[in-house]
Amino acid sequence: MDREALIRWFETHRRDLPWRRTSDPYAKWVAEVMLQQTRVDTVVPYYERFLARFPTVRDLADAEPDSVRALWSGLGYYRRAQLMLAAAQRIVQQHGGRLPPDAGALRALPGFGPYMTGAVGSMAFDLPLPAVDGNVTRVLSRLHAIEGPTDTAGHRRQVQQRAAEWAAERPAAVNEALIELGATVCTPRTPRCPACPLQRACAGRDRAHELPPPKRRAAPKTWTGHGLVVRQADGPGIWLEQRGREGLFRELWCVPLVADATPPAGSAWIETVWPGLGRAEVRGRVVHVLTHRRLELTVWFARAARDGTRPAAGRWVDPRELDRWGTPALVHKILKVALPPLFR
Ligand code: ADE
Repeated sequence: MDREALIRWFETHRRDLPWRRTSDPYAKWVAEVMLQQTRVDTVVPYYERFLARFPTVRDLADAEPDSVRALWSGLGYYRRAQLMLAAAQRIVQQHGGRLPPDAGALRALPGFGPYMTGAVGSMAFDLPLPAVDGNVTRVLSRLHAIEGPTDTAGHRRQVQQRAAEWAAERPAAVNEALIELGATVCTPRTPRCPACPLQRACAGRDRAHELPPPKRRAAPKTWTGHGLVVRQADGPGIWLEQRGREGLFRELWCVPLVADATPPAGSAWIETVWPGLGRAEVRGRVVHVLTHRRLELTVWFARAARDGTRPAAGRWVDPRELDRWGTPALVHKILKVALPPLFR
């Protein structure tokens, strides 16, 4: 195990990323949560805005859920933000506002599974814990020639075992280096083996096409449906409502929308979300792909009547102030189709 070669490589080749310039455990945690499902390039500006707005655990713990969701808007997987807020509150109540430097105490916090516990434990506190994400799984599968698909219990166990061995010493550097190696050198399709600090020890060298075997992922199911943009009669607002606690985009602010395997055809659905709205016209279509769903929506537009009805819950929001709300990227797409450029 050439730990020193790996660390030396990391020290000279690592990308200069904002969470690598701080030793604040909270900041490192924020980064790891965002990076869990999202690419580095996308995360950087979100990370900076988030820390500017909530510079400490206490600031986050005191935040309104909607203001946290608003800063998360567009990052996806909004449940992560909700769990982070819950964890911040717990850290204030139980740990005096500081992340606990202890594996068991970290693991007990909302949103801390094995990866997050290992990543924060090692990178913030240098605890000797493995932190296995997709990158590390690929690197170790190749390095140690762990055969077969990565989604079996046996494969996972072997990767965890190897990762624990790697992280036994200098865990902060080793874990982040393994992630970095997977992201920049030991990439899925065409790894740059000649640039790898571990090439001599690699049992999977020249077998990158089969180690690990490509995932068989079912294509996302297509749901079709409708989105409705309603413009305020006497103002610039468009109507947003907070979605329910179940289903798509839970608890985010969206235009009224339905999406389903078998949605209603035509404009009849509008009467179910906004009784008495009146005439609405089709402005176009949007396609939006999530991890497990492909959404194909017809975009409708209507102007509210000055003295008309409106749904019980919801609010008028100026589309230019949309980023104050937790709205998914889909809503931006829908507005682009529905509204002329001046009003976006
Ligand atoms: N992905 C997960 N953690 C990361 C980190 N610390 N740096 C870069 N990419 C990551």
